[in-house]
Amino acid sequence: MKYYQIIFSPTGGTEKVAKAVTRSWPQVEMIDLSVSSTNYTDISLERNSLVLIAMPSFGGVAPQLALNRLAMVRGNESKCVIVAVYGNRAYEDTLAQMEDYAEKAGVQVIAAISAVAEHSIIHKYAAGRPNFENCEELKKFGNQILEKAVSDRCSKPYIPGNRPYKKAGTGMIPKADSSCTFCGLCAQKCPAEAISKDNLKMSDKNKCISCMRCVSICPTYARKVSGFMTLVASAAIKKACSVEKTNELYI
Ligand SMILES: Cc1cc2nc3c(=O)[nH]c(=O)nc-3n(C[C@H](O)[C@H](O)[C@H](O)COP(=O)(O)O)c2cc1C
Ligand code: SF4
Ligand code: SF4
Repeated sequence: MKYYQIIFSPTGGTEKVAKAVTRSWPQVEMIDLSVSSTNYTDISLERNSLVLIAMPSFGGVAPQLALNRLAMVRGNESKCVIVAVYGNRAYEDTLAQMEDYAEKAGVQVIAAISAVAEHSIIHKYAAGRPNFENCEELKKFGNQILEKAVSDRCSKPYIPGNRPYKKAGTGMIPKADSSCTFCGLCAQKCPAEAISKDNLKMSDKNKCISCMRCVSICPTYARKVSGFMTLVASAAIKKACSVEKTNELYI
């Protein structure tokens, strides 16, 4: 049996969760859904593998760009766990959507996880998560999933979420201030090719998915979203974020 992680993690929270879940899995091969130059139709998983698919929740749904790339991969009936990572507000239809697109990729969903990671826009929510205890718990989830896969049990658990899915909202578009040094790193790493090399301080609003990668990797902290919009968004989710959410395993 081969082991894979297929992840979309613009700012690293989803990756932390994925690593914790797969910590006891042997030799996990990583497939990164954030690389726009990859031809995902060329990727074919070895038959009967175990694969973890992880994505963040953006407005209660998964990023469409990541779902489309996932659907191009040939899963060859491998068993899979889908993992929705969210910033302690809610993940709503993210897992349901991931379930549908995982099946489009030809994998069998045998488990699902929802897990909390630091909010990638409003960092005070779920700050520092996943913490040590969260990671230990996620590792245990990973062991239970491994046990199910190895014993060849393929039943699909109940997975929460609605169809039709929630509509994705409009996001915040970052731009750079005068501390931009024109290094080009943001353009190189943007998953959506939304930053032109000829206009490095701006993001194309028609392409940008508000994933916050450019903000988190800018070496001079030049790239930002509107402070006013962030305050408004923070106030809007304050109540929902006031209760610390627990990680969940559906198996
Ligand atoms: C555009 C956007 C929308 C988000 N929407 C939600 C949401 O609806 N619910 C929530 O709990 N967290 C939300 N978050 C927080 C992310 O789901 C969370 O921080 C996640 O860990 C980000 O993954 P990453 O660190 O791998 O990029 C949102 C973040 C972004 C950038
Ligand atoms: S990463 Fe920052 S400094 Fe470099 S080009 Fe982008 S905004 Fe400018
Ligand atoms: S420009 Fe938009 S899509 Fe590209 S990295 Fe920045 S936030 Fe993400």
